[in-house]
Amino acid sequence: MKIGRLDIGEKLILAPMADVTDTPFRTIAKEHGAGLTFTQMVSAKGIITNEFYTLRKLAFSRSEKPIGVQLLGKDPDILYAATKELHRFKPDVIDLNCGCPVDQVTKHEMGSAIMDNPELLGKLVASMVKGAEGIPVSVKLRLGRDRSSINIIENAKIIEDNGASMVILHARAREDRYSVCALWEWLTKVKNSLSIPLVGNGSVFEAKDAQKMIHLAGCDSVMIARGALGNPFLFREFNQISDGFEGNGLPEVLEVRDVCIKHIKLLTVEYGEFNSLDKIKKNVIWYFRKYNGISYLIEKLLSLKSVDEIQELVEIHTQKIENEEYQKEDIEIISKRFNNKVVFWQTEEKETVCEK
Ligand SMILES: Cc1cc2nc3c(=O)[nH]c(=O)nc-3n(C[C@H](O)[C@H](O)[C@H](O)COP(=O)(O)O)c2cc1C
Repeated sequence: MKIGRLDIGEKLILAPMADVTDTPFRTIAKEHGAGLTFTQMVSAKGIITNEFYTLRKLAFSRSEKPIGVQLLGKDPDILYAATKELHRFKPDVIDLNCGCPVDQVTKHEMGSAIMDNPELLGKLVASMVKGAEGIPVSVKLRLGRDRSSINIIENAKIIEDNGASMVILHARAREDRYSVCALWEWLTKVKNSLSIPLVGNGSVFEAKDAQKMIHLAGCDSVMIARGALGNPFLFREFNQISDGFEGNGLPEVLEVRDVCIKHIKLLTVEYGEFNSLDKIKKNVIWYFRKYNGISYLIEKLLSLKSVDEIQELVEIHTQKIENEEYQKEDIEIISKRFNNKVVFWQTEEKETVCEK
């Protein structure tokens, strides 16, 4: 698929995910075959005011290219200035977030609130295209506010008419949040109304689902979000299937251990031992969520206080899985809980997705 001047071939795209798709996560996704990765959403205003935490979220290394930066903003002038400023970082794509449904974002008329105002959306895209000076601009959005007010066709046309190079459609409405079924039929309708590429997104948890989405909905590529948590192998399997091989399915647990340990090391380098602990625990659980013993792992892991202890637990856990020492666990139930809430081991009712 070509996004303006960028060609990512037939590969899948890693979605922007707040507090998740940092350099370590993106590096591993790329090593396993993702064709393009995205930063989490970063504030356009924070970029032009040199806000420390914004720039921290934005940072990426050259080895990560091709990479997209996702901006959060609602003001054409600020988005123009931020896009211009991004030239010194040299991203390959600049995306506008018009899909985030979290109140913290929509109450400031950003994220999915922009979908309600197609005229403003057009101005924002035009400003970004002007500031981007040739770097492809994309917009990631949903179907509309709710299922009775779907306005994606109008919005997609406006995005195209104002010079964007790609539309990324999370095929749910803003009110749907994350759990209800994505409406793939809308991908087909939008694809038929556009001449720029369309990327489909929503509930693709397996490589075969991504293939199905491309075949059934006709979109040009697929963006993987929750399906990539602890599962960079999905990108590799998709590429293998596309090359005509049988996909590997669930990887050998020894390989999962190796990639997980590498991820732990990258996180420790990125954030330092103390600040990386929570991120490491979250990722370790995601890596082993499809294997017996996950309940035992969660219980042990959450009490640990050092990276060394976590690595040791990962080794022991892997051996136990290898030796089939765990009782059979209902992985279907774990998967359902995960699909409902990615931090499925936390019980408090806290909004965890798309946080700033
Ligand atoms: C933890 C988490 C953080 C997210 N952060 C962002 C974000 O920063 N920007 C964005 O456009 N979407 C964000 N999303 C939405 C995803 O990119 C994706 O659109 C959504 O999860 C639907 O895809 P899926 O059903 O395959 O997970 C986030 C989702 C999750 C689970």
